Amino acid sequence: MTTAKSLGGRLAYRPNLERADAQQLLPIFDSILPQSSVDAAAEEIRSWEAYEASPLIPLDQLCHELDLGRLWLKHEGDRQPTKSYKMLGTPYGVYRYLAQEIHRRTGLPEPSSKDIIDGGFRDLVAGLTVASATDGNHGFALAWSAKHFGCRAVVFVPSWVSPGRIQRLKQAGAQVEVVDGDYLAVDKVAADAAAQENWKIVSALASTGDTETPLDIMAGYSLVGRELVEAFPGTPKPTHVFVPCGAGILAIGVCMELVRAWGKQAPDFFPVEAEPTASMFRSKGLESPVVLQVDDEVVMGGLACGSTSFQTWPGLRYASTGFSSVSEDGVADALSLLKEKEGIITGETTMSTVMTIIHAAHDPATRRLMGLDQSSRVVIVGTEGVVDPERYEVLTGIGLS
Ligand SMILES: Cc1ncc(COP(=O)(O)O)c(C=O)c1O
Repeated sequence: MTTAKSLGGRLAYRPNLERADAQQLLPIFDSILPQSSVDAAAEEIRSWEAYEASPLIPLDQLCHELDLGRLWLKHEGDRQPTKSYKMLGTPYGVYRYLAQEIHRRTGLPEPSSKDIIDGGFRDLVAGLTVASATDGNHGFALAWSAKHFGCRAVVFVPSWVSPGRIQRLKQAGAQVEVVDGDYLAVDKVAADAAAQENWKIVSALASTGDTETPLDIMAGYSLVGRELVEAFPGTPKPTHVFVPCGAGILAIGVCMELVRAWGKQAPDFFPVEAEPTASMFRSKGLESPVVLQVDDEVVMGGLACGSTSFQTWPGLRYASTGFSSVSEDGVADALSLLKEKEGIITGETTMSTVMTIIHAAHDPATRRLMGLDQSSRVVIVGTEGVVDPERYEVLTGIGLS
C-alpha cells in the first residue's frame, strides 16, 4: 500500500522573490480583469439550472499524516455535467459569443442565455460553430455548451490524448480532429481551420488575437475562488491555497477573488505545474512566459498547454508565493492513495496538487520555505473527476464498476 511518505515522484519548488503585497496587486488585477466582469459572469452562471457550488472536502487522515492543521480538497471532479470546473468558464464563453453574434446579425439587444436555450434564435444559432484545441476537458465543456445552446462544436486534440477522452468528446456531440504535434501546434491547426471555415475559436488561450473570449472564460472560472471565499465567511481563513495550472486562467481567477475579498488576510498562493509543461516555474524574472515543446503524453493532461498565457503571467508573476513543478511518476500512486485514505475517486490532473502538498509537507526544506506547520489551514483545488474510467482502472488497478 502506498503511504504518503513513500509516494513516488518529486517536487521542485521556487519561492517567488518578485512577490507583491495585496495593495500592489489590486491595480495589476484590474488591468487583467475588472471585478465587474467577474460579478456579471457570476450572476449569469448562478442563474443556470446546472449550477451548483463544488464541495470543500476535509482530507482528515492525510492532514494528520502530513502534520498540518487542516487540509481540504476543493473538489471540482463532480461538478456536473463536465466533471470539472470547465463547466463555469467554457459555457459562459460560448454564451457571450452567441449573444454578441446574435446582436451583430439582428441588431436586437443581446439575448439572455435563457432566450437562446428556449430556441428564440434557433436557425441563426444552428448555423454557428465553436471550435478549440483541447486536451479533453475544455473540449467536452465546449461540446456540452454547443448542444445546450444549439450550435456546432469542432475540437482539435493532440494525438497523445487517451482514446477514452477522445471517445468522451465524440459522445458529447463534438466533431473531433486528431492532430499530430504538441498542444501549441494543435492550437495553430485549430485557428487556421477556424479562419478558413468561419468558425469561432472559444478558447482560454488568446492565440488568435481575440483577447476578450479568454477573459470571459477567466471570469467564469473565477467562481471557484468566489465559492472558496464564501466557504470561509469568518475567521480563521485558509493560510495556503494550491491550484493546478496550465495556462493559468483558473489560477489567476481564483487568486484575484481571494485577494480582492480578503486583502492582507489572503492566503499564500501556489500555482502548481506538471514538470514537462512547467512554464511559470522556468519563467523567473521574465516579462513573457517560457514556451515549452510538449510532444509526449502528459498524464496530468489538463496542464499540458506548454506555456502560461501572456494574459495571466503579469498577475501570477507577482501574486504567487512560489512556483511548484511536480513530476508525473507519482500520479498512479496518488490516485490510489486518495481512494484508500479518503475514499475519493478522482482524475489524474487533480493529483498535481495532491502530490505537491504530500511532497512539500514531507520535505523539511520545502515545508519551511512554504511555511507549512501544524497551524496551517491548507486548501488544494482538484480540477477534474474520472473523465476516462478505463485509464483510471489501468493506472490504479481499482475497478470502478
Ligand atoms: C482538469 C484541468 N485542470 C487544470 C487545467 C489548467 O487550467 P488553466 O489552463 O486555466 O491553467 C486544465 C486545463 O485544461 C484542466 O483540464
